[in-house]
Amino acid sequence: MAALHLQTPLFKTLPKTNSPKHPKKPFFKPSYHQSSHLPNTPQTQKIHPLFTNKEEGTEMVEKTKVEEIMQVVEKRPFYLYSKAQITRNVEAYKEALEGLDNSVIGYAIKANNNFLILNHLRSLGCGAVLVSGNELRLALKAGFDPTRCIFNGNGKLLEDLVLAAQEGVFVNIDSEFDLDNIVSAARIAGKKVNVLLRINPDVDPQVHPYVATGNKNSKFGIRNEKLQWFLDQVKSYPDELKLVGAHCHLGSTITKVDIFRDAAEIMVKFIDEIRAQGFDISYLNIGGGLGIDYYHTGTVLPTPRDLIDTVRDLVKSRNLNLIIEPGRSLIANTCCLVNRVTGVKTNGTKNFIVIDGSMAELIRPSLYDAYQHIELVSPPPPDAAVSTFDVVGPVCESADFLGKNRELPAPARGSGLVVHDAGAYCMSMASTYNLKMRPPEYWVEEDGSVSKIRHGETFDDHMRYFEGL
Ligand code: LLP
Repeated sequence: MAALHLQTPLFKTLPKTNSPKHPKKPFFKPSYHQSSHLPNTPQTQKIHPLFTNKEEGTEMVEKTKVEEIMQVVEKRPFYLYSKAQITRNVEAYKEALEGLDNSVIGYAIKANNNFLILNHLRSLGCGAVLVSGNELRLALKAGFDPTRCIFNGNGKLLEDLVLAAQEGVFVNIDSEFDLDNIVSAARIAGKKVNVLLRINPDVDPQVHPYVATGNKNSKFGIRNEKLQWFLDQVKSYPDELKLVGAHCHLGSTITKVDIFRDAAEIMVKFIDEIRAQGFDISYLNIGGGLGIDYYHTGTVLPTPRDLIDTVRDLVKSRNLNLIIEPGRSLIANTCCLVNRVTGVKTNGTKNFIVIDGSMAELIRPSLYDAYQHIELVSPPPPDAAVSTFDVVGPVCESADFLGKNRELPAPARGSGLVVHDAGAYCMSMASTYNLKMRPPEYWVEEDGSVSKIRHGETFDDHMRYFEGL
């Protein structure tokens, strides 16, 4: 068994418990030098940095025991990341894109908007995919190159489009009124906007209906039969719009790359049609959507390389620049939510492990019935009976569960329980429901030390919204 690699001190900055004072400036190290010792692996799907040491039944992040981290951080649920795994995930995409010049990895900020994580992703060469003016502002603050940013959305606001136009980000046209607003934004900003047409390839992504977007019934994108109308409109605004490409996004949690292939085939035909009308377009944006192994069953899922390889020849055949917009597959498996067990109870037919984390911190199971793998942080007491439990939080809703029907040894009160693969759409979708307050975030650095990367929200933060009213 590999020896524990613990740094002294474990923490670079010892976090204060309970109500941390917010420093004026966020703490971050602006530049990242890629460390050469990181394993060079395009197969992100097989790696779980937050894994159970099978022999000991211990949860680890890289080489650090989660149990040890729990001793020194705030005593409430917290998100815990591996910085090295974020790097490995980006590297997997970069390697997959080798040979496709001028391609852009546009990280979908909605998946996780932690400012230090954004800085790290930017330092690794990512662009950013934005769905609001604030995401654009955050991307700019984190130093993303605006010309490697894409502004998406079916309800983009004029003021946000003006900012996008000023900064020179790519903007996707989603509808007739959206085109109208982009033209207005270009005039207000006094700048021509590089636009892509968001086209619905009408391919079934075979995912939960809430995260399917590329089918005909979706609220996103233009109607394909109106393509000609949009092209005529773009032609009529030569001072405001420059059409540079076509975009599609099929959905999220996709586990079959054939689906991307089908969409890309349809998209290059649209591109041929658009080019035939004299438009000099060079970008194909195939969106994000690659799934990850939430179930931890060892199933080998498509890697970024599998995804890129499936569209590579099509992209090359038309001499296109590829834009991809991954969120989940860059960040989900880099993190877990660490909780404490408040107690174990039964209602006579069902057993419950009640933890301090809840749907407020992590809503995916409640909202999409999503499975996220759950493990105890440390080996249970030797006499602990294994039973089937629902893992639930304290929130006043029966929808408040993190996992259902999980076979687990009965954990001791106060012991740790982790929800895996919590890096994407967990903290960014967290709420303060029941005034639980959004949790702090930490990451394990490449040298094994642990740093706080976001303060937990406090009751005082909440009261500030009412100051001076
Ligand atoms: N591009 C566009 C236009 C998108 O709408 C999305 C995600 C992405 C890229 C990134 O997709 P990803 O690579 O992360 O799958 N809250 C849901 C996921 C919603 C995804 C929305 N769009 C969840 O927790 O599963």
